Amino acid sequence: MVTAVAQRLAAQRREINDTLARLSLSSENLQQVKDKMRVELERGLRKDSHSTASVKMLPSFVYRTPNGTERGKYLALDLGGTNFRVLVVKIRSGIRKSVRMYNKIYAIPLEIMQGTGEELFDHIVQCISDFLDYMGMKNTRLPLGFTFSFPCRQTGIDKGSLVSWTKGFKATDCEGNDVVEMLREAIKRRNEFDLDIVAVVNDTVGTMMTCAYEDPKCEIGLIAGTGSNVCYMEEMRNIEMVEGDEGQMCVNTEWGGFGENDCIEDIRTRFDREVDEGSLNNGKQRFEKMTSGMYLGEIVRQILIDLTRRGLLFRVPVPNREVQSCINDHVVQKLSDRLALLQVRAILQQLGLDSTCDDSIIVKEVCGTVSRRAAQLCGAGMAAIVDKIRENRGRNQMNITVGVDGTLYKLHPHFSRILKDTVKALAPQCDVEFVLSEDGSGKGAALITAVIDKYLYAMRLSDETLMDIMKRFRRELGNGLCSDTNPTATVKMLPTFVRSIPDGSEKGDFIALDLGGSAFRILRVKVSHEKKQTVQMESQIYDTPEDIIHGSGTRLFDHVAECLGDFMEKQNIKDKKLSVGFTFSFPCAQTKLNESYLLTWTKRFKASGVEGMDIVTLLNKAIKKRGVDIMAVVNDTVGTMMTCGFDDQRCEVGIIIGTGTNACYMEELRHIDLVEGDEGRMCINTEWGAFGDDGMLEDIRTEFDREIDRGSLNPGKQLFEKMVSGMYIGELVRLILVKMAKEGFLFEGRITPELLTKGKFETKHVSSIEKSKEGLTKAKDILGRLGMEPSADDCIAVQHICTIVSHRSANLIAATLGGILSRLKDNKGNPRLRTTVGIDGSLYKMHPQYARRLHKTVRRLVPESDVRFLLSESGSSKGAAMVTAVAYRLADHTPTPSCKSKHPMSMRDST
Ligand code: BG6
Ligand code: BG6
Ligand code: GLC
Ligand code: GLC
Repeated sequence: MVTAVAQRLAAQRREINDTLARLSLSSENLQQVKDKMRVELERGLRKDSHSTASVKMLPSFVYRTPNGTERGKYLALDLGGTNFRVLVVKIRSGIRKSVRMYNKIYAIPLEIMQGTGEELFDHIVQCISDFLDYMGMKNTRLPLGFTFSFPCRQTGIDKGSLVSWTKGFKATDCEGNDVVEMLREAIKRRNEFDLDIVAVVNDTVGTMMTCAYEDPKCEIGLIAGTGSNVCYMEEMRNIEMVEGDEGQMCVNTEWGGFGENDCIEDIRTRFDREVDEGSLNNGKQRFEKMTSGMYLGEIVRQILIDLTRRGLLFRVPVPNREVQSCINDHVVQKLSDRLALLQVRAILQQLGLDSTCDDSIIVKEVCGTVSRRAAQLCGAGMAAIVDKIRENRGRNQMNITVGVDGTLYKLHPHFSRILKDTVKALAPQCDVEFVLSEDGSGKGAALITAVIDKYLYAMRLSDETLMDIMKRFRRELGNGLCSDTNPTATVKMLPTFVRSIPDGSEKGDFIALDLGGSAFRILRVKVSHEKKQTVQMESQIYDTPEDIIHGSGTRLFDHVAECLGDFMEKQNIKDKKLSVGFTFSFPCAQTKLNESYLLTWTKRFKASGVEGMDIVTLLNKAIKKRGVDIMAVVNDTVGTMMTCGFDDQRCEVGIIIGTGTNACYMEELRHIDLVEGDEGRMCINTEWGAFGDDGMLEDIRTEFDREIDRGSLNPGKQLFEKMVSGMYIGELVRLILVKMAKEGFLFEGRITPELLTKGKFETKHVSSIEKSKEGLTKAKDILGRLGMEPSADDCIAVQHICTIVSHRSANLIAATLGGILSRLKDNKGNPRLRTTVGIDGSLYKMHPQYARRLHKTVRRLVPESDVRFLLSESGSSKGAAMVTAVAYRLADHTPTPSCKSKHPMSMRDST
């Protein structure tokens, strides 16, 4: 009897051992797994075998690990592991190098994971919205790095179409679509905030970057969690799916798919097949289903069911399926630990499984075997990876670090040890260190975003910074107005002797000269005044060749006079004595309307012998006997304000965002120390282009701004203008492109001599590239004309760079304009400012997004204002004619010409 029982027990034991033996892998088995993995890695990399390879080797477009110079503030999403997280990551570089993170975990309910794609992305965006509210950051448009832990076919760092869902996700209408686009669309649908999605990264890549930030030897990222996967730095020359041979790129192996082509059927058991059949993705991710946390519990459960059915386990009572489904990876982890049998029994008891001592031993053995196999398989795979890297580098021996994350690795009592032992045994020529990622892959995603953003981060200005710049500029306005501080103020606040905008009574027949913008124009402006005031204009553009604007002043003014002679002849007004209004778009110290001393040339002009001189005298000398009378000199900002003031009486600010940039506005005379009198107002030409010439903007100037300045006609001067105006924007973009190409981030590192030539990339190109529909084609054309052959990704990157540079310009102008508006508001003493700003200039007019961005930022920076932005349709000359009309009327009342100079004329002086 006893022997019969003993025999039966021994037979049962043998059966159990046999069952588990199929899950125990010999060293030969493991060596074979390593070898087969190696074959699949190679097949995934090669073009001819890529489509049938089970290990997909997906390019990540991450070319390097961080080097500590990254900085900035980023948003990150981390989707696809146990938790969905939204994070803010603040990265500092230099001696204060650090990373600070704030995050919130959100649930993704099962019905959303397996609902429609739209529902899933709407849910994600809702979580972001909640997080931004929670952080008080709704209005800060941060760059975002998106950790998306599923296989994505990327064609750029910010483009990835989902190959197939894995793990527990199965939302419809996502596979084959670009996940960044889906996220963008969901953000648009919500229409509540804006984000700049800079990068999409796999969790393995994020993890590698997180760890590489601390340890530069880290060139591999491993996830052993819900899913299982590895990425590593591969040589570009081996990645046939991406063009280019130089340098390295991180490859997301997606090794979870290993075996999909039946190459590991010899070690798969019927339990593995059952798990596969019951999964969301039957036939797929076979390696993952043997190695990752999501499936370990399920394998164990299948074995326990089998043993129970065969009468080898849990004889009384037979557990039902519900109870069995309590066995998940946590249970497996716990039961794999060194526990006394009583403890094992207690755990099983909690799950409703009544076990004998023998049962406990068996369950524990099953858990141990299944997890041991998982760790060994990962180890064999890893051995293939490290040996591949070693061979890539032609080395006999190699030290390398693997950054690891995932609950299985972190929580399982033996997983990491078995994994390391296996790697050691199978790749003895590699010394592999495993470093746990403490901060998750979100940090790495933010670092990737920062690596991409390295050249541009300093050009993104937060509202906080813009507010600060607005305050600095307001201080400068005060300094320029006050006689004590004016000599050292950078913003010169030049009185214009224009005291009000047109009132509708102006009339006459005038000539206007418009010099200093992108075109030199001569116009005839007839202001008639029958029932209604009407203005008729005829104009002609004249060339101003480089040798003239850089030659002698005499030649320049002779040229102006010649063009004027030609114009008068064509207009048949040679013998008419007409008054001339001269829009001269440079900083001038005026003593009256028609006496104007050029302080310094700006923009493209540099004619000798003009600075410090009265330009009316110079022009009169050149005109000689031609019967014209220069009545008024106005800055283009003033002309623009007057042009717009003609249509809108509320206009009291004029700005130019063209070749150069500048603003004028109506200031209270009592605040203008440089002009006598306290009553009324006078238009002040701020000459804000020089803001920052005393170092005030050094904190926001970038290396590119400095380079522009060094190569300019007026180094050290007009530093604000050089960050924002049309003459410099194209060149700024060109310098960034050159630098990024030199570092291998663009154009595969190729640069043509044309791209290296100053001025070859123009601001009008920036405007066309930023057009939403045809922008990318334009980018290809424009770069093509410079001899470049940009890829689709290059074009996207170039568009991104253009956006950042032009957006910074609009933001900075919003800050200085904000300074003027807030001053106007205080001058008026009203709680709200209602005003109109007249604007002109090619950048503002031609750029597709500029005006909208400027208006939006101004409204944010000066919320207590209602500003109407009025585009000057007819240039500054109409306004100049208005000024001339008044000057003419005043001059008419003046008894003798000699008195003119004794009584400085200014508009409305006598009214
Ligand atoms: C987290 C990472 O720490 O680990 C995720 O931030 C990653 O990006 C996850 O997906 C993997 O582990 P698990 O166990 O959550 O799947
Ligand atoms: C024109 C004005 O419309 O704009 C000029 O008439 C002004 O006076 C010019 O200088 C500014 O823009 P840009 O782009 O030509 O420098
Ligand atoms: C799955 C995904 C993969 C991810 C891994 C770990 O294998 O396909 O992209 O890296 O899980 O989360
Ligand atoms: C430059 C000039 C300024 C002019 C501006 C716009 O900044 O110095 O006078 O208004 O360009 O043309």
